[in-house]
Amino acid sequence: MEELKIPRHIAIIMDGNGRWAKNQGMPRVMGHYRGVEVAEDITEACIDLGVEYLTLFAFSTENWNRPREEVDTLFDLMKTYFHEKRERLRELGVRVRFLGRRGRLPTDLRKIMDTLERETQSCENIQVNIAIDYGGRDDIIRAVKKAISLGMEDIDEPSFSSLLDMSGVPDPDLLIRTAGERRISNFVLWNLAYTELYFTEVCWPEFTREELIKAIEDYSSRQRKFGRILDE
Ligand code: FPP
Repeated sequence: MEELKIPRHIAIIMDGNGRWAKNQGMPRVMGHYRGVEVAEDITEACIDLGVEYLTLFAFSTENWNRPREEVDTLFDLMKTYFHEKRERLRELGVRVRFLGRRGRLPTDLRKIMDTLERETQSCENIQVNIAIDYGGRDDIIRAVKKAISLGMEDIDEPSFSSLLDMSGVPDPDLLIRTAGERRISNFVLWNLAYTELYFTEVCWPEFTREELIKAIEDYSSRQRKFGRILDE
C-alpha cells in the first residue's frame, strides 16, 4: 500500500444531515445534532493524524433560504455547542477561527463566537476554521471592498489573499464533500484553486475516522502538478 500523505489542510462540505435523518424516520434537525458530534470526532481524528488545519462549512450565505425553524435550530445548536465545548476544545488544543459575515447572525451567537476565538487563540494542535454565513463569492467581494477602502493599487495574489477570510492559512490540500453531491457550492472559491477533490456517497452523520482515512488514501495516490509537467 502507498504511504499515507497527510494533507496539511483539509476542507469539508458536511452534506446530507437532513437526508440521513429522514432515512432514519427522524426530523431533519436530528441530522444536524448528529452532525455536530461527527464534526468533533473528525476534529480529534485530524489532530491524531497531524492535520494542521481543518475548515468546515457549517452555514452558507444561501442557507438563509431554509425554513426559519431549521435556521433557528442550527444557530441554537451552534450556540450551545460553542458554549459548552469551550473547555474541551482548549484541552484538545483546538484554535477556532470563524469565516463568514457575522453581522447578520444573532447577537448572542456572535458573542459566543468571539469568546471562543479569543479563548482558543493560543491553542496549537490544530486550527479549525468554521464557516458560518459564508459564501466564496461574498468573501471575494468583501476583500475587493477592503482593497478599495485601503486605496490599494498594486494588487497581486498574496496581497489579495491577505484580505480574504482565510488570510494567513495555507490553501486546502484536500476537499471532502459527503452525501453524493459533486459541487463546490460557493465554498472557499479562491482558496480551492489547486485543491484535490474527494466525493463520497456517505452522509455526514455517518462519516467516520475510517471514511476520513479512505479519503486521505485516495489523496495520497494522486500526483499534484500545480500546472507543471512532472518528469517521468
Ligand atoms: C448539510 O446537510 C449540512 C448543513 C447545512 C449544516 C452543517 C452543520 C453542522 C454539521 C452543524 C454545525 C457544525 C459545527 C462544527 C458546529 P443538509 O441539511 O443540507 O442535508 P441534506 O442535503 O440531506 O438536506
